[in-house]
Amino acid sequence: MPQIIDGKAISAQIKDELKEKVAALKQEGTSLCLAVIQVGNDPASSVYVGNKKKACAYIGIESLSYELDESTTQEELLNLIKELNKRQDVNGILVQLPLPGHIDEDLVIRTIDPSKDVDGFHPQSVGTLCIGQKGFVSCTPAGIIQLLKRSGIEIAGKECVIIGRSNIVGKPMALLLLRENGTVTVAHSKTANLKDVAKRADILVVAVGKPKMITRDYVKEGAVVIDVGIHRNENNKLCGDVDYDDVAPICSAITPVPGGVGPMTIAMLMNNCVESAALNR
Ligand code: GUN
Repeated sequence: MPQIIDGKAISAQIKDELKEKVAALKQEGTSLCLAVIQVGNDPASSVYVGNKKKACAYIGIESLSYELDESTTQEELLNLIKELNKRQDVNGILVQLPLPGHIDEDLVIRTIDPSKDVDGFHPQSVGTLCIGQKGFVSCTPAGIIQLLKRSGIEIAGKECVIIGRSNIVGKPMALLLLRENGTVTVAHSKTANLKDVAKRADILVVAVGKPKMITRDYVKEGAVVIDVGIHRNENNKLCGDVDYDDVAPICSAITPVPGGVGPMTIAMLMNNCVESAALNR
């Protein structure tokens, strides 16, 4: 049977490490504060935002919560971000996505001061990642690198295939695996012979957004499989983009859903908040 990569345990370990760092920062007089903005009350977003605030409380980071009405105008949101950009006591600004249709997400992301962009979504953060300079890295792909490293999985020299090319996961994932000296292929919905391409992977990262799409026909025997997807199946149970029961017996390591990649996103957000406070102290 494969190694089951325990994202819950690894994220707990990272959060405990961060808790110690926060205590040390506070001792030298550095305050830590994350501003969390949600517009509207999408139930999934409310769960994510609640978990982020809970993680802040656990680690010792203050969180400022802005729960704005669905009808909030773009100008009102931009003004709030500009105000938070100016505040010395705020280290990080997170605007939960998706935003209502009348608000331009790109413009919102661009308005966040890159030194407080703990989500790593600002074009400047993406640019620094691309050229290998310091900057905030998108939390889910950063978490996947930690999962691999802390599970003793070597990346250098490995064939890495990512299925999915989103700005939040696929593209930054490619850059991070490249930074770790992997040989990287980004596949997507228009890729020809997707099964053959995926089967080249020593490390296969799946972020397609389709429940249980990846069966063992896409996986080389002995590969490491990282599943970014999370869905509810017909019985209201959580499942990923990978058909776990079909794939697990043939791979060397695999992330479960839930309890794999998911918990890592929040741990890395906390890491970015601590880095932001340490850099700007
Ligand atoms: N919506 C879904 N995932 C994320 C995330 O990582 N950050 C933000 N801001 N919104 C999201």
